[in-house]
Amino acid sequence: MAEAPDNLREVHDRTRERRSGHAGARVGAPPVPGDLPAALGRRYLLDFDTDDFERRAYDVIVIGSGIAGLTVALSVPDTVRVGLVTKARLAETGTWYAQGGIAGAVGEADSVELHLADTLVVGQGICDAEVVRTVVAEAAEALAGLEAFGVRFDLAEGGKVSLAREGGHSLPRVLHSGDATGATIQHALTAAVREAGNVDVIEEHFLVDLLTAGDRCAGALVLARESGVPLALWADAVVLATGGCGQVYGVTTNPDIATGDGVAAAWRAGAEIADVEFVQFHPTALDSDANPRTLITEALRGEGAYLLDCDEKRFMPDAHPLAELAPRDVVTREMERIMARCGRPHVWLDARHLGEEHLRARFPTIWERCAEAGHDLAHDLVPVAPAAHYMVGGVCVDAEGRTSVPGLFAAGEVTASGLHGANRLASNSLLEGVVFSRRIARVLARECVGGPRAARIVSGSADRTAAFTITKARSALQETMSAFSGMNRSAGGLGEAAEIVGGLTRMLDVSLRRTIELEVQNMVTVATLIVHAALAREETRGAHSRVDFPERDDESFLGRFVWRRGDAMRFEPGGAS
Ligand code: SIN
Repeated sequence: MAEAPDNLREVHDRTRERRSGHAGARVGAPPVPGDLPAALGRRYLLDFDTDDFERRAYDVIVIGSGIAGLTVALSVPDTVRVGLVTKARLAETGTWYAQGGIAGAVGEADSVELHLADTLVVGQGICDAEVVRTVVAEAAEALAGLEAFGVRFDLAEGGKVSLAREGGHSLPRVLHSGDATGATIQHALTAAVREAGNVDVIEEHFLVDLLTAGDRCAGALVLARESGVPLALWADAVVLATGGCGQVYGVTTNPDIATGDGVAAAWRAGAEIADVEFVQFHPTALDSDANPRTLITEALRGEGAYLLDCDEKRFMPDAHPLAELAPRDVVTREMERIMARCGRPHVWLDARHLGEEHLRARFPTIWERCAEAGHDLAHDLVPVAPAAHYMVGGVCVDAEGRTSVPGLFAAGEVTASGLHGANRLASNSLLEGVVFSRRIARVLARECVGGPRAARIVSGSADRTAAFTITKARSALQETMSAFSGMNRSAGGLGEAAEIVGGLTRMLDVSLRRTIELEVQNMVTVATLIVHAALAREETRGAHSRVDFPERDDESFLGRFVWRRGDAMRFEPGGAS
């Protein structure tokens, strides 16, 4: 196996050199899965004494202000005092970027059974069927909850709700507000939370670490992003709703803030983590140099847009009976094959036959974003390519959103709830966020009666000094993950990625205080977990694709990899098909 790089130039050189060589190769032996760099064993990112900081106490701390975090804050009784921490401004979240909508079996031809069946098929055998059943069954109630906060979904002629179709759904099932459903939801919930007298909004504060006293989560240490001033927050319960980690990759639809902070902090706090090898790539991001890439909602293909190869021929009808609306893993794999055959970094999205009037009316945001990039959706073929989009795994939670750490709950993209299995069904994520957050709020209403358990926590270790540029470390990580741990993985490539992220982990195991530095430490932690889990899963299933193990292998891998800091990764058999 190759030696770990010891400087950033070497990381860049090795990534570039080896990128092409690893596409299908099985080179060298992979490291032992779960054999993580020692620095991933650190409990806290910073050295501190909470008595030195300003301290505040709440009944509940919610971290994250997307659909999951805001739903918890708005659903607890108003006697519960909530500290709502968010890394940027209140409305700057992954939710805001969601275009397509929220799935719910509310149409006349639909049923809980059909929604359950579609979710299980896309999840490729390892969903928790009971979780899926209860989540999809609660959709109507969850949607009514959103409407009560002022969210309005589009109506069809006759006043019935308009339902769109997306990949993997056997019929139209996605409620939407134009092509900016996430922004509409975010806007309504943000306005409601600003009005809530029991919610103290703490914007522009970065979660450094969850504070634990004994085995219990007792609060959170946060830093003001600009000034770097720390704040110790104590609470009876903490809810993680920090979203995803798309920025770990060089090409993503996720905003700058999606750096996996919640998973990394939960890992350090000793929470169980699962399914992290499943990183979902969205097939249709506008091909450009932008970060994040502009998402082009699957709903556009649901309305009839096609994918074309370099000869301007449709290729999906030959690949899957649902053609352009096949599950995302199928579409992205086929696109990769076509892109390689054509020698191009994209395929074409063809919406010309849908007509300008319809496109402008139904997809105004995408129309604008394409126009800004010089593409006329009604007359041009638009270049699209897959981009990292959704973290399927994360912090393990039970049906009520409890993690394995007492006092710590989690909801939304940061979790592994068993709903998604190996691959998320399109537009099930907003639904998951609302359903689990409402359940957590019900638990907190019952249990948050003891008041915060404030404690003094001191974390100390020798000073370690840094000798690198953080932005370079960030881009080296993104390059590495895109090259070796993206849609086509192999033992050789993943082994290389494990060495490189190991080198970065050691390089970053120094005293850092700026939030951009702490963020990169989190990204490296999450990347390390993804790479090692991907090495362990020697098969292709859902969003995890191994070119050296191209088949699904139920005999060995029907189940999930679960691990926590200090323990070896373990395999838990089980699943549903
Ligand atoms: C989309 O609109 O295509 C994205 C929806 C999702 O990721 O669920």
